[in-house]
Amino acid sequence: MRAPGRPALRPLLLPPLLLVAAAPWGLAVPCVSGGLPKPANITFLSINMKNVLQWNRPEDLQGVKVTYTVQYFIYGQKKWLNKSECRNISRTYCDLSAETSDYEHQYYAKVKAIWGTECSKWAESGRFYPFLETQIGPPEVALTLGDKSISVVLTAPEKWKRNPEDIPISMQQIYSNLKYNVSVSNTKSNRTVSLQWNGAYIHVLLCS
Ligand SMILES: *[C@@H]1O[C@H](CO)[C@@H](O)[C@H](O)[C@H]1NC(C)=O
Ligand SMILES: *[C@@H]1O[C@H](CO)[C@@H](O)[C@H](O)[C@H]1NC(C)=O
Ligand SMILES: *[C@@H]1O[C@H](CO)[C@@H](O)[C@H](O)[C@H]1NC(C)=O
Ligand SMILES: *[C@@H]1O[C@H](CO)[C@@H](O)[C@H](O)[C@H]1NC(C)=O
Ligand SMILES: *[C@@H]1O[C@H](CO)[C@@H](O)[C@H](O)[C@H]1NC(C)=O
Repeated sequence: MRAPGRPALRPLLLPPLLLVAAAPWGLAVPCVSGGLPKPANITFLSINMKNVLQWNRPEDLQGVKVTYTVQYFIYGQKKWLNKSECRNISRTYCDLSAETSDYEHQYYAKVKAIWGTECSKWAESGRFYPFLETQIGPPEVALTLGDKSISVVLTAPEKWKRNPEDIPISMQQIYSNLKYNVSVSNTKSNRTVSLQWNGAYIHVLLCS
């Protein structure tokens, strides 16, 4: 199969043309579009702004060694951009955290499957808006026991960062109205009390 409008290349001309096209970038993956089924279920898995694009291999290609190439798009800009670390990869995920790190922007991504000289059409994700879609991971919980009380100190998780030495940013700084749902169970009476709290410090009085 060929994309509409693509001129038919005479077989004898094909290898030299591909060499010319591949040489300047070194990494270009030449393939004829449309011959393979597309990757399925393309979604962003986003936790604390670590944004990883995931997909399933095309259903009809179990057992075939396909590879994948990923591009992404910043909403409002004009062109698809290459993610060089995710070109011709055999894994079915691609970390786009750095490319999508402005969490108030919106993004798209797309993936195509490649096998030999054939590739699938692009399969596109839905629009991804990190600010609304990222999941907030669990906080850190520290307990201090008093005489008849427990102090609970909650620390919101850190946002994803590009380099380990970057200054940490708490998810609390991004979502200032972040609330915690704290449950306290008494194993003796088997009673559980849940409360919602928007501070990071709770003092629980113990009654027997
Ligand atoms: C992405 O890579 C392809 C070749 O793999 C190249 O033709 C295209 O120009 C690149 N796009 C951008 C925006 O750099
Ligand atoms: C893509 O990856 C496959 C498998 O790893 C390899 O055989 C092929 O040569 C690669 N193609 C290009 C253009 O890098
Ligand atoms: C896509 O996801 C659905 C639900 O998780 C699953 O049933 C289906 O098999 C997936 N498709 C492929 C091609 O893996
Ligand atoms: C808080 O946690 C408790 C126990 O896990 C649960 O029953 C309750 O529905 C949660 N409340 C909210 C608002 O999520
Ligand atoms: C405590 O409550 C749980 C669920 O509500 C119940 O399964 C369990 O048997 C209870 N244990 C005691 C000691 O009452």
